[in-house]
Amino acid sequence: MYKQKIEHVMLDFVNGRNTPSTIKDAMVYSLQAGGKRIRPILLLAVIEGYGKDIEAGMKTAAALEMIHTYSLIHDDLPSMDDDDLRRGKPTNHKVFGEAMAILAGDGLLTHSFQLIAEDELITSDQKIKLLGLLAKCAGPEGMVGGQVADIEGENKSLTVDELESVHVRKTGKLLIFSALAGAIISCASGAEQSKLEQFAHHIGLAFQIQDDILDIEGTEELIGKRTGSDEFKRKSTYPGLLSMDGAKEKLRFHLDKALSSLEELSMDTALLKQIAHLIVNRNH
Ligand code: IPE
Ligand code: IPE
Ligand code: MG
Ligand code: MG
Ligand code: MG
Repeated sequence: MYKQKIEHVMLDFVNGRNTPSTIKDAMVYSLQAGGKRIRPILLLAVIEGYGKDIEAGMKTAAALEMIHTYSLIHDDLPSMDDDDLRRGKPTNHKVFGEAMAILAGDGLLTHSFQLIAEDELITSDQKIKLLGLLAKCAGPEGMVGGQVADIEGENKSLTVDELESVHVRKTGKLLIFSALAGAIISCASGAEQSKLEQFAHHIGLAFQIQDDILDIEGTEELIGKRTGSDEFKRKSTYPGLLSMDGAKEKLRFHLDKALSSLEELSMDTALLKQIAHLIVNRNH
């Protein structure tokens, strides 16, 4: 149910704007290609856990998924991971060409800030907090910085700490935004926010470890991307550094840590527990 609403908000916003049809088609193509929508689902699950109205989080959730989708379009470019399959379909640049794929990513990124700024269901104070936090988590201090470190880690053997720092930034930070944005919209206290941040930190790491595992053990049909891409690009990954068993052990470690971060929260954490288990047990 969350998923359909999020998709509706994203498409309604992008389709309703006066933009050149080529970039609109390219943005809509990637937004409509599917995807698990885990980040917006987490954001809304936090709001629901606090017993608040999820409608207040719908636009921020959609904006976050637009940023994530942009990050995937750029991640797949020939100059980056050079992948040709995403969400079970040809990658954006394969269909629209590199220039339009870059611009579609730029378009989704900037549209996402506009979407939050135009939200009428949250206060100005909440908007300022959300916009600042989103820029921090998605930008060079967060996801973009992690992508830089990921590229610079190619053909190298990183230490576990260095690899963890790449994963925290490239994947963890957007999940941290999901949890904290849900808390900001629910007016949760600073103490609650720091527990949620810890939870998201650990599920973020678990999420990327499982992504690295699926690149080896998954099937293209299920994950909707080519398998073996990391090895081909000589990426630094947990299975590469710690062996498959070591990576799976780390995955369980982060699941346990995530679950224990939930213990002192005042909210209903049932949905968050479900999401944590889903992240480590997923096959796509
Ligand atoms: C893939 O993210 C990129 C990573 C950060 C690991 P997802 O696995 O959430 O991709 P979609 O959105 O479901 O396609
Ligand atoms: C990408 O990590 C993380 C992003 C910020 C997009 P990957 O390069 O491992 O993601 P996939 O495997 O291509 O989805
Ligand atoms: Mg990558
Ligand atoms: Mg990639
Ligand atoms: Mg990957």
